[in-house]
Amino acid sequence: MEGFFIVGGNALEGEININPAKNSLLPILACSILIDGEVELKSVPLYKDVLVMCDIIRHLGGKASFKNNNLYIDCRDMDKDCLPHELASPVRSSIFMLGAIIGKMGRAKVAYPGGCDIGLRPIDLHLKGVRDLGAKVIEKNGYIYADGRNLAPRDVLLSFPSVGATENLMMLALSIKGQTRLLNPAREPEIVDLQSFINSCGGKVRGAGSDMIVIDGGKKLHETSFKAIPDRIETGTYIIATAMCGGRVKINNVIPSHNNSLISKLSKTTCKIQINDDSIIVESDGHVKSFGEVETAVYPGFPTDLQAQMTALGAVSEGCSIVIENVFEARNKHIAELIKMGCDIKSKNGVIVINGKDKIYGADVVAPDLRGGASLVLAGLRAEGYTTIENISLIDRGYFKLEEKLSSIGGNIKRLEIIKNRC
Ligand code: EPZ
Repeated sequence: MEGFFIVGGNALEGEININPAKNSLLPILACSILIDGEVELKSVPLYKDVLVMCDIIRHLGGKASFKNNNLYIDCRDMDKDCLPHELASPVRSSIFMLGAIIGKMGRAKVAYPGGCDIGLRPIDLHLKGVRDLGAKVIEKNGYIYADGRNLAPRDVLLSFPSVGATENLMMLALSIKGQTRLLNPAREPEIVDLQSFINSCGGKVRGAGSDMIVIDGGKKLHETSFKAIPDRIETGTYIIATAMCGGRVKINNVIPSHNNSLISKLSKTTCKIQINDDSIIVESDGHVKSFGEVETAVYPGFPTDLQAQMTALGAVSEGCSIVIENVFEARNKHIAELIKMGCDIKSKNGVIVINGKDKIYGADVVAPDLRGGASLVLAGLRAEGYTTIENISLIDRGYFKLEEKLSSIGGNIKRLEIIKNRC
């Protein structure tokens, strides 16, 4: 089966251009079904999750097509309100369609979502918010049935600032005439980007990034041309890769402030980071000191989507590092794979204790999820000897042409048929 073959030990030198953010594009694609006109999304990478969302849009009767790296969506002819299991279950972002489909069609029948195996990933906050806004919701036989005939604007308090629930409710509120306010919403940059997208279509949403988002719903939303923000998790992945492998890499097309929590953590190590307006330069000798301790949290705290990569960095840093995962209860399956590479890591109840070692070794490993897979790529680039990584389709969900980008800065990584025989 297709996998990555990596020979470790090279320093990374050169420049990388960051793609538009996966976690911005996915809710924007869901929201596109509400737009009365064509949506042009610029420079869209072929993330696997984006391709799944395009299939979902086509299933619903909309159009989705790529031309010159741009993605064109037109849902004026959308005529379905049902999202079957086979389309909903591969991705978490299918649940983001719930609010938009109710808003557009007046009702929805949506199968449960999937997504990375990093925890239970309930949808109770999504369903509570949809009910708070007046929809009648029944869960039966693995489907969510929603009736939107009695929607009404009101204040909705989120008991936890869930990213997806915030986005779902923003989209549902667009179809409800009057003012809906989301209290204690998620504040991630991708939420602000969804607000920017909606307002570029003539919507009136404000407060994203703060503790209250105000949506003036019921407005007609017209065509737009939009480019999503750079992917801060891709950016962080390359920053950490350079810190681990050594070298000098200039990372272009970034919003540095989106990576403040990572940059402040790495200032404790011995890698040098230079911040420019829209680029970051990372320099390292590949033998860094430990970053100490890091706890994942909702934005602007340290992103859970960089936890696995930080764990890999700690594994090759001098000293003991502590990583505490507070967001997902089972975001730890990369640890067993890193241990196969000689990493000294203990993990219990979300607390990860890492004794850094200067040498780790190539091994045959399996990507457990998107960001866990990325952490194995970073470890393979740093390890002595060769590493094979299976299940790389999970990595392709959120990194586009990862091996080509890493090869362009000196990483020895190839995508090929993996035949494992170390004996
Ligand atoms: C989004 O997932 C991202 N995915 C995730 O990125 C990211 O890790 C996460 O936000 C946190 O930043 C997309 O945007 C497609 P949440 P989401 O709802 O919306 C609990 C990646 O690697 N929760 O903020 O699912 C949940 O179990 C992916 O790119 C409920 O309890 O995240 C978790 O513990 C992985 N009930 C916490 O909240 C709910 O109804 C955060 O989840 C919803 C969530």
